This record gives sequence, C-alpha cells and structure tokens, in this order.
Amino acid sequence: MHEQETQTEYIVTTDGLVKSYRLGDGSDLTVLDHLDLRLPKGKLIMIMGRSGSGKTTLINVLSTLDDFNEGSVRLLDREYSLMNPKEKEKLRRNQMGFVFQSVALIPSMTAIENIDFGLRTAGVKQGREERIREVLEVVGLAERGNHYPVQLSGGERQRIAIARAMAHRPPVLFADEPTGALDTESGHHIAQLFKDLAEKEGISIIMTTHDLKLAQMADMLIRL
Ligand SMILES: Nc1ncnc2c1ncn2[C@@H]1O[C@H](COP(=O)(O)OP(=O)(O)O)[C@@H](O)[C@H]1O
Ligand SMILES: [Mg+2]
Repeated sequence: MHEQETQTEYIVTTDGLVKSYRLGDGSDLTVLDHLDLRLPKGKLIMIMGRSGSGKTTLINVLSTLDDFNEGSVRLLDREYSLMNPKEKEKLRRNQMGFVFQSVALIPSMTAIENIDFGLRTAGVKQGREERIREVLEVVGLAERGNHYPVQLSGGERQRIAIARAMAHRPPVLFADEPTGALDTESGHHIAQLFKDLAEKEGISIIMTTHDLKLAQMADMLIRL
C-alpha cells in the first residue's frame, strides 16, 4: 500500500544522492552530499541557494544531463543508474521539458515555428497546429504567434520558450534560473505562469533560483 503510494505521489525521487567533481589537483569537491528527495507531482518546486551552492548540478543530475557518484535517482519508476545514454536521451526527449536562463529560441523562426520545431523533435505527428494554439494561449501570447524572437521582449521570449518546452506534454519541466535574465516583474510573471502550469496542467516544475522573493511562491523549497 505504502509502496504504491510512493510510486504515484512523486515525480522525482533520490536516495543517498552524492555528486562530486574531481578537481585539477586530484581532490574531490562534493557538491551534493547524500540527498534524499521526494519531489511531489504537479507542484512548483524550487531549488534555492547562493551562486556555487550546486543548483545547476542538482538540476542536471535530476534531468539525467549529468552523472552522479552514489545513490539513486528516479523519474517515476525509471531508475537512472539502470539506463544507458540512449535511453536517457529518449527519456529527456519524451518525458521532460527544458527551459534555460538564456532563451534558446531559433531567431529565424517565428514563435509558432519554434514551438512546432519542439513538437517535431519530440516526435509529435498529429494535432500540432491545435496544440500550438493551446500553449500560446496558456502562456498568454495567443496574438504573438507570428512574431520573431527579436520582436518580443525578454519575458515574452521566455514565455514562448516555456510554451515550446511543455507543448509535448511532458510530466516534468526543468528550468535552470529561468528568471535570471529578466527584470523583477517579468520574473514574477514567469513564476506565476509556472504555478498555473503546475496547478492547471498537472506538470511538475523543478526550477532553480537565487531570488528569495520568488522562492516564496514555491509549493516546495529545497535549500542548498
Ligand atoms: N565541471 C565541473 N568541474 C569542477 N567543479 C565544478 C564543475 N561544475 C561545477 N563545479 C563546482 O561545483 C559547485 C556548484 O556549481 P553549480 O552547480 O554550477 O552551482 P550553482 O548553479 O548553484 O551556481 C561550484 O563550486 C562549482 O565551481
Ligand atoms: Mg547555476
């Protein structure tokens, strides 16, 4: 009974997670020291800490982008240490969405084309046009579909990047300092959008921030 609950309740779990880097002088720098995390589904989860505290390291490990030294990490029932690089790549493509600090939209493509590119990369063949309309609506930019990135503000570009990251309906979205390049107000809007996505679309959002004020909006806060 309890086992079954844990399987459905959490999106990502870690047990005894250790991550260290081997430095040039041969010594080890331990960044993540035996972390046991239970990250609930459909919530806005923030990883908070000063620069150098290991936020990027943690989000990269949780999203299979980086390896770890000890312990275990799982997305739903998939145990990372049992997966090869190809399986991890497939997991990222199908089950995860990514948003970064500096928006990686393709400048020669409109907002719609950028989102469509993401959908095609994720292997979505049917209903793309309708889904694009839907996600543009969700991020509040229904009227901006034909705009090129350069015609959008920083905050708007980040919202398009979020629309692209979630269009293929991944259960989890990873965002490393998604508000880091934005002014306070745009940053707040992004965090509010994430909160809505978690609540209304049931997507689990795992993001990093060093902004104490934004951290107050989190459903769950991990301090490093
Ligand atoms: N590839 C690497 N090799 C060695 N040390 C690293 C590497 N990447 C990060 N670090 C170190 O690990 C610590 C955590 O870095 P990072 O996860 O980027 O922190 P944050 O994102 O919180 O600023 C820092 O001390 C950083 O210098
Ligand atoms: Mg970082």
